[in-house]
Amino acid sequence: MNINTKLLHGYSVIDKETGAASIPKYQTSTFHQDDVFHHTGYNYTRFGNPTITAVEECIASLENASYGLAFSSGMAAINSVLFMLSQGDHLILGKNIYGGTYHIVTEFLTRFGVEHTFVDESDVSAWENAIRPNTKLFYLETPSNPLLTITDLKAVCHLAKKHGILTACDNTFMTPIHQQPLDFGVDIVIHSATKFINGHSDILAGLIATNDEDLYLTLKKHQKALGSILGVEDAWLLLRGVKTMGLRMKQSVKNAAKIADFLSNHDEIKSVYYPGLTSHPQADIHQAQTQSGGAVLSFELSCEDKVADFFNKCQIPIVAVSLGGVESILSYPWTMSHACMPEEERIKMGVTSTLIRLSCGIEDCNDLISDLENALK
Ligand SMILES: Cc1ncc(COP(=O)(O)O)c(C=O)c1O
Repeated sequence: MNINTKLLHGYSVIDKETGAASIPKYQTSTFHQDDVFHHTGYNYTRFGNPTITAVEECIASLENASYGLAFSSGMAAINSVLFMLSQGDHLILGKNIYGGTYHIVTEFLTRFGVEHTFVDESDVSAWENAIRPNTKLFYLETPSNPLLTITDLKAVCHLAKKHGILTACDNTFMTPIHQQPLDFGVDIVIHSATKFINGHSDILAGLIATNDEDLYLTLKKHQKALGSILGVEDAWLLLRGVKTMGLRMKQSVKNAAKIADFLSNHDEIKSVYYPGLTSHPQADIHQAQTQSGGAVLSFELSCEDKVADFFNKCQIPIVAVSLGGVESILSYPWTMSHACMPEEERIKMGVTSTLIRLSCGIEDCNDLISDLENALK
C-alpha cells in the first residue's frame, strides 16, 4: 500500500465495536472488568486505550515498523528513549540539535552520570572518532533543527552496528512521507507529532516506531512508568489530522522549494539553508535518503537591526516557536527554540541573531512570496 493510501486505510481506522468511520474518543481513565482475573485488553489508560492504540498502529504503519508508541509530546518520546541510558553510559549526538534535546542531555543526563559528545553530524568520521568503550547510543536528527544539516543515515547506522551501538533518529522535519529512517538501519524513529503529522497547531504529541520487540517492550515500560502516554483527546485529533498529511505535505514542500529559490536570489538574504537546493552542502546525501527538500527552511538576514522589522512587516505567517502547521510559521531560533542554549554554544552551532526559520504552510505560494518580498523591502 502506498503511504498516501496508508494514511487513510493502513491501520485501525474503523471502530471494531460499532463500525464508526472515525475511531471514537474512548474518554475514560479505566475499564470495567466482568472478571477480576481478566480484562478486555485494556484496564487503565496510562497503560493503553483503544484511541491511542489506533495512533500507535498508525505510526508503525507509516514508518514500515512492527511497533508504534504514542507520547504526550515529542520531548516525552525523546526522554523515553534517553531513559534507556544508565549511569556511566556515553551518548553521541549531532551538534545541530533541537534545543529541548540539547537541554535534557546537557542539564539532566549529566546529573544522572550519563556522558555525551556533540559531533559534526555531517562528518561520519567525527561519529567514529567520538566512540568510547561505553558508547551506547547515537542520537540523530536529519535534517537538523534549525540549520537543516544532513546526517548520512546509512553510513552512521552501519558504523553504529559495527560497534554494537543503538541508533535513534528524530524524523520530525521529513515526516514518514519523505523519509523512513528504519530502512537505513536506524533502530528507533522519533517524531514530534505536534508538527506535520497532526499538522494543525492544536495538540502536543510524540511518536516512536521500531522493529525491535525488546526495544518496544522497554519503551512501553518507560511510557507507562513515566506517565508519558498521549492523552485521548489529543490522540483523536491526531487521527483526524494525519489523514490529510499527504496533501498537506505536497503543498508545503512545493511552497518551501519555491521560497528557498526566491530567497536565494534576494540581496537582503545572506544565506539560505534548505536541503532541496542543489547548493546545499549535503544535497547528494539528502537526496539518497529522501526525494524531498521538506517544508522547513532557514535563512539569514543581512543584519541584526532588520530582524524585528522583518517579523513585524510579515503579514501572513504566524510568528511562533513551532512548525509543521497548515499555516506558515516564522520563528526566531535565537530567542525561541534555541534560547535554552548558552549564547556561545548557539553561535558555535550557527544559530546566529540573524537566523530566521520558516515552516511553510499550505497557503497560495504567490501570496507568501509577495508577503516576504514586501517585508524584505
Ligand atoms: C525536531 C524536533 N524534535 C522534537 C521537538 C519536541 O517536540 P514537542 O514540542 O512536541 O515536545 C521539536 C519541537 O519543536 C522539534 O522541532
